[in-house]
Formats: sequence, C-alpha cells, structure tokens
Amino acid sequence: MALLDDLKWRYATKKMNGQMVPQEKLDYILEAARLAPSSSGLQQYKILVTSDKALLEKIKGIAYHQNQITDCSHLLIWAAWDGYSEERVTNVFNNMMDARNLPHETMDAYKNSLLSLYAPLGQEWQAHHAAKQSYISFAMAIAAAAEQKVDATPIEGFIPEKLDELLNLKGTGFRSTVILPIGYREEENDWLVNMKKFRLPKEEFITEITINDAADI
Ligand SMILES: Cc1cc2nc3c(=O)[nH]c(=O)nc-3n(C[C@H](O)[C@H](O)[C@H](O)COP(=O)(O)O)c2cc1C
Repeated sequence: MALLDDLKWRYATKKMNGQMVPQEKLDYILEAARLAPSSSGLQQYKILVTSDKALLEKIKGIAYHQNQITDCSHLLIWAAWDGYSEERVTNVFNNMMDARNLPHETMDAYKNSLLSLYAPLGQEWQAHHAAKQSYISFAMAIAAAAEQKVDATPIEGFIPEKLDELLNLKGTGFRSTVILPIGYREEENDWLVNMKKFRLPKEEFITEITINDAADI
C-alpha cells in the first residue's frame, strides 16, 4: 500500500521552489535507478547528474524553457547507448562474469545469439531499444523520489540532439533520452498540485484474457 500512496502523492510538478534535496535522498533515488532491470542485463544507459545553475540555465533553453529545470535541486539526465557493438556487449558480459567469478566464455552462446539478433536490425533500432531500457530506470527513479517525498517531473520535452551537443555526448556512444528534475513543489504557484489525478478506469486499462481470446496461429 505504501507504494500506491506514494504514487498517488506524486505528480508531474510544474513549479519547484529551489530547495536542495539532501545527498542521501539523491543517492537513494540514483540507487533505485541503478537497480532497474534492463534487457539482457546490459544496462545500456547511464545517468548524468547536475545541480550547476549555469548548466541548468543552458539546458532550460533547449527544453522549451520549462522552469522546473532551473527551479529544481538536481537534474538527472539518462543517456543510452547509440548501438550494440560486439565490443560493448562483450565488455558487459565479461564484467558480469567477473562479478560472478565465472569464466568469460560462460555466456558466449547467449551473447552471440543476442549479437546476431541485433546486428541486422541496424543502429537506429538498437539505439531505440537501448533508449527504451533507460525509461525503466527513469520510472524507478520517479517511484523512489516519491517514496522519499521528493518531487520529480518526467521530461521528454527537450531537443535530444541539442542536449547531446551541449553535453559533449556526440562521439561518446551515448544519446540523451529523457530528463528528470527533482526538488520540492512550490504549492502556491503550481497549477497542477491540487488537480485530481486522471488515469484510465481500471476496467478499461486491464483486460483479463484466456486462450479463447487468442488467434488460431
Ligand atoms: C516520458 C514522459 C515525458 C514527459 N514530458 C513532460 C514534459 O516535457 N513536461 C512536463 O511538464 N511534463 C511531462 N510529462 C508529465 C506527464 O504529462 C504526466 O506524467 C502525466 O500527465 C500524468 O500526470 P502525473 O504525472 O501528474 O500523474 C512527461 C511524462 C512522461 C512519462
């Protein structure tokens, strides 16, 4: 129940008050993001964190001037792999095997099948697949922030190519995917704070299915 109460408490905060989030709460949110599951465990994304006001001001300019970016405490930026090279995938599996005290070759069959599945799909498909994984981590951070009574605004409203350029991501193999300002709501100036949460009704959102609903294939 606690999680559901936290999810009901949170909302996409439109106005933050500039108060700083304590380091231990920031660490908790980042740790939840790090613990997110990812396809094949590749963890094909990372998080950049900043509270640098001058940098936040620049980022705001490429995020349609959304004021949460400068009124927040910290901005979390997810950046995902721009493709699945053999070197990159092998490196993750080698590290995973090292952590588990297993020989590097242990998962070679799985790794090779993954590489041969992804290679023909092309780099854009791969970058999109990696970006999707980063959103799972993003959601974990949003939930963890709510648990810590820290406000957070999920933001896709920015120009990723420009952010990549600003943050010198071009040529690093990473592309920005989504950003999350965290901080504290300024209730008196936030038009959304007292609005009823709007979601699809359960009966529309959830459909129980059986074999009778399946196609004959
Ligand atoms: C991926 C994603 C991108 C979003 N981008 C923005 C954004 O750029 N600016 C903004 O104010 N809200 C943004 N939102 C917030 C949504 O509008 C909000 O989550 C949704 O309306 C549900 O409301 P609630 O989060 O307040 O419950 C985004 C949400 C998600 C999940």
